[in-house]
Amino acid sequence: LRKAKIAGVGSFAPEKVLTNNQLEAMVDTSDEWITTRTGIKERRIAEDDIATSDLAYEAAKNALADAGLEAEDLDLILVATATPDYLAFPSTACVLQDKLGVKGIPAFDMVAACSGFVYGLSVATQYIETGTYDNVLVIGAETLSKIVNWEDRGTCVLFGDGAGAAVLTPTKSGGILSNVIGADGEQNEVLIVRGGGSKRPFSQQIIDEGLHYLEMEGNPVFKFAVRILGKAAVQALKKAGLTRDDIDFLIPHQANIRIIDAAAKRLKLDRDQIYVNLDQYGNTSAASIPLALDAAVKEGKIKSGDIVVLVGFGAGLTWGATVIEW
Ligand code: ACO
Repeated sequence: LRKAKIAGVGSFAPEKVLTNNQLEAMVDTSDEWITTRTGIKERRIAEDDIATSDLAYEAAKNALADAGLEAEDLDLILVATATPDYLAFPSTACVLQDKLGVKGIPAFDMVAACSGFVYGLSVATQYIETGTYDNVLVIGAETLSKIVNWEDRGTCVLFGDGAGAAVLTPTKSGGILSNVIGADGEQNEVLIVRGGGSKRPFSQQIIDEGLHYLEMEGNPVFKFAVRILGKAAVQALKKAGLTRDDIDFLIPHQANIRIIDAAAKRLKLDRDQIYVNLDQYGNTSAASIPLALDAAVKEGKIKSGDIVVLVGFGAGLTWGATVIEW
């Protein structure tokens, strides 16, 4: 049986740090509020001339090096992002393909907001298991700072920029044991950028009304997230013939420490079985899980043979979980 495994991981975040204290000077907020409500202490912000593909490129190079592969070895590039270089086209994956200098191989973007990386893993797994492709690059990359309203304290304190990547290759055993993805489109408006698409094309009015910015109803997202993190993880474990008792290590989407703690309680996990770096990066949407995965691997938190669960949720609303035998 042909399965897919993660052969290498990598990540990258812009150097510029924006702390909670600095945010206090920008909007009516406090380090204390942000820390207690979210767990976030600081986030990284891309400079004006840096696009999502620039972050993706650095993460991709790191993941390829970790896998011991060259860009020329890749058969497919998948980029999960909600903040592409260009709104319509070309895809960020095509821009990245050019940067990597690997003309000819297929490259496309996927939009599933913060669940994007897990959606990407699920698609890559299919291509590898069916024997269509061998080496697939899956990237989650975002420059959310570019669509955040820096005058809206309800959202601007939450998000940050970054990129994470994984190179998937075939294996005979272990590797990715299962993927579960899902969506609830009924709640498509709770986390939304209303302007700039075909529903409300760009106009002066869109800009004047601030509809080009990210808008969020925090509460429904919070409730959904707490419920779905545990549920998606358990579903994916079941599909792999496992239960929550089999989890060695959980890498959840890094949105809010209270959401992670609530999900951990439901899954009966100890804090040291869960990776958290949202204090350093905030919510980086599709980049958050691979950023955390890369850090966990490099810090030696994940051992060979561990059962690792990646689980995310995001705008759409969407969710996804991947179970890996590392
Ligand atoms: N600083 C100070 N006060 C604030 C701030 C701030 N930055 N933001 C909001 N407040 C105020 C509110 O105005 C409100 O004041 P009021 O009671 O006078 O009206 C009060 O704080 C409480 O606001 P709530 O929204 O009830 O706070 P809550 O505890 O629910 O936390 C939060 C808000 C952090 C946004 C939470 O709802 C949350 O994390 N939701 C999930 C968000 C999420 O995960 N989003 C990402 C999804 S992934 C993706 O696809 C991008």
